[in-house]
Amino acid sequence: MSSALIQTKSYPTWNSRWVFIMAATGSAVGLGNIWKFPYITGENGGGAFVLVYLVCILLLGIPVMVAEVMLGRRGRQSPVATMRQLTNEAGLHGFWNSIGWLGVVAGLFILSYYSVIAGWALAYIPEMGRGTFQGAGAAETQLFFDTLLADKGRLLAWQSLFMLMTVAVVACGVVKGLGVAVRILMPLLFVLLLAMLVFAYRHGDFAAAAEFLFRPDFSALTGRSVLEALGHSFFTLSLGMGAIMAYGAYMPADTSIGKTVLTVAFLDTLVALMAGMAIFPIVFANPSIHPGAGPELLFVSLPVAFGAMPGGLLVGMMFFILITIAAWSSAISLIEPGVAWLIERRGFNRFTANISLGFIAWALGLGTVLSFNDWSGFTLGGFTFFGAMDFLTSRIMLPLTGLFIAIFVGWVLPQMTAKSELNGEGSRFYPLWLWVLRYICPPAIGVVLLVGLYDTFAAVS
Ligand code: PFF
Repeated sequence: MSSALIQTKSYPTWNSRWVFIMAATGSAVGLGNIWKFPYITGENGGGAFVLVYLVCILLLGIPVMVAEVMLGRRGRQSPVATMRQLTNEAGLHGFWNSIGWLGVVAGLFILSYYSVIAGWALAYIPEMGRGTFQGAGAAETQLFFDTLLADKGRLLAWQSLFMLMTVAVVACGVVKGLGVAVRILMPLLFVLLLAMLVFAYRHGDFAAAAEFLFRPDFSALTGRSVLEALGHSFFTLSLGMGAIMAYGAYMPADTSIGKTVLTVAFLDTLVALMAGMAIFPIVFANPSIHPGAGPELLFVSLPVAFGAMPGGLLVGMMFFILITIAAWSSAISLIEPGVAWLIERRGFNRFTANISLGFIAWALGLGTVLSFNDWSGFTLGGFTFFGAMDFLTSRIMLPLTGLFIAIFVGWVLPQMTAKSELNGEGSRFYPLWLWVLRYICPPAIGVVLLVGLYDTFAAVS
C-alpha cells in the first residue's frame, strides 16, 4: 500500500486525518450526489423532500456515521470480523453479526446497478468528444439517451468496462489508486460543478430551480418520500453497509472522529446541492424536460447545456470523466468490505476475492441492463429489476442496518467501548451524540421504515 499508510503493531493506519477524509469523501461523493439526488428530488416534488433529506443527514446520518467509524477503528478488521470480535468480547448475541453480513450483500447489490449507471457516464465521454451534442436541444438528447438504453449490447459493454476498472483498482490495493483519484480529481469535479452552476445561472431558469429546491411544499410529501429521503441520506454518506466502517479501520487512533465526519458530510451535501442547482435551471428552461423524468434526468438535461456552451464539448467530456471517477471511488468502497472479509476469514488472496465478488456484481447487473430494454415490461409490485434492486438496498437494507447500528452502539455495546474511542472529542460531544443515537435514531428510523414501507405497498397493491 502507499506511503500514506503507517504499519502499526497489528494493522496499518493512514498517517493523517486528511487521508481518511479523502477516502471517505471519495466513497460518499458519487452517482448518489450528481445523478440520484437531483432525480429523486424531482420525482418527490422538490423543497420539502430536500428539507427532510437535510434533516436526515444531520440527525440520523451523522450520528450513525460516527458510530460506524468508531466501530471500524475499534475493530481494525473487515466489518464482518469487527462485528464478530466486538460481539464476542462483550458476550453479546450473534445476531449483531448481521450488521457486517447485510453490508457485504447490500454492497454487491448496489454495485450491480451502480456499474450500469456509471457505464452510461462512460458512454457519454466519447460522444461529447465526437460532438454529438453540439447545438443539441432537449429532444435530441432524449433521443440519444433512449437509443443508448435500447441497445443492451452497448450498455453491457460499458458496464463491463466500469466493473473492470473497479476490480483493477481493488486488486492493486485501495489506498494507492484512491489517493490520487480523490486528491486531484475531486477538487476538479468541484470546480467543474461551479462552472456548471455559473452556466445554469446565466442561461437557465435559476430562480425557478431555487424555488423548486428550497421552497418546501409539504403537500408533496408522503410516507414513501420520507423513506426515500432517509434511505438516500444513508446511501449518499455510504452508511449502513460497512463501507465507512471498513475505512474507519485505517483511521489513526488520535484523530477526531466527530470533526472528520462533519467535514465529510458537509462536502457530500454541498456537492449534491450544487448538482441540483446545476441541473434544475436547465430543466426548467426546457419545457420538454420534466423534473420528475427519473433516472435519465442528468443525462438528458446537462448535454443540452454543454451543446450550447462555448467550449462546451470539452467541458462536457471532462464532466463525464469526473462523474466516472467519482463513481469509481465509490464503487471501490462498495466491494471492499466483502473483499476484506474473504481475505481475512476465507483465505482468499486479494485478486481472487476481488474477481469473485466483481463477477457476482457484474452478473447481477445484467438484470439492470435488461430492465431498460427487453425486461422493461416485467415489473414486480410496480418495480422493474433496477427499481427493485434500488428499493431493496436504499430503502430497506441500508436504513435497517443503520437502525441495527444505532441500537447496537447506543444500547447494547458496553458504553466504555464507544467512550474510550471518542474520548478525545469535546466534552459535550459524547453525551450529545449518545443521546441522539439512543433516543432519536432508533425510533425515527424505525417509524420512517414502517410507515414508508406500508405506504409503498399500499400504493402498489
Ligand atoms: N455514497 C455513494 C454515492 O453517493 O454515490 C454510493 C455508495 C457508496 C453507497 C458506498 C454505499 C456505499 F457503501
